[in-house]
Amino acid sequence: MTIKHRSKLGWLKSEHHDLLCEIAGLKGWWDSRDKAQAPNLGEMGRRVMNLHDRLASHFAKEEEGGCLTKAAELRPELAANVAQLLKEHQQFRSKTSKLAEKLARGDFRNVGQEEPWIEVQAILAALAEHEITENSVLAAAFGESYRDDEEE
Ligand SMILES: [Fe+2]
Ligand SMILES: [Fe+2]
Repeated sequence: MTIKHRSKLGWLKSEHHDLLCEIAGLKGWWDSRDKAQAPNLGEMGRRVMNLHDRLASHFAKEEEGGCLTKAAELRPELAANVAQLLKEHQQFRSKTSKLAEKLARGDFRNVGQEEPWIEVQAILAALAEHEITENSVLAAAFGESYRDDEEE
């Protein structure tokens, strides 16, 4: 563990915290909506686009930061997991931008009110899985240094 990677791990922790806040904000918006009214799909589209932008920047930093690549170098048995995580970055970027476009175009106008949120939730659930796997890969590669960072 170099100082460079230690500081990047600390940065990753705060990045993940910001991402969780963005997701909590999106869920909170949906839960607190006026259920007597049709959901504001334009607003949902803007929020999904904000999530896309945050993810795009988060993933780009993870990819440039090299912690995942370094984890695969340190522990070759994690290489397949790391390759899968990097592939998922591309899938999340594409899924969120396509969903935001569908919402902006009004593609959900004639379906049940829950329908678009079901798609958002599927992305959020997959994203939570992604982050859990990422945390376990980083903990397996960097051990206590990563866990210490997590507990700060
Ligand atoms: Fe990631
Ligand atoms: Fe991440």
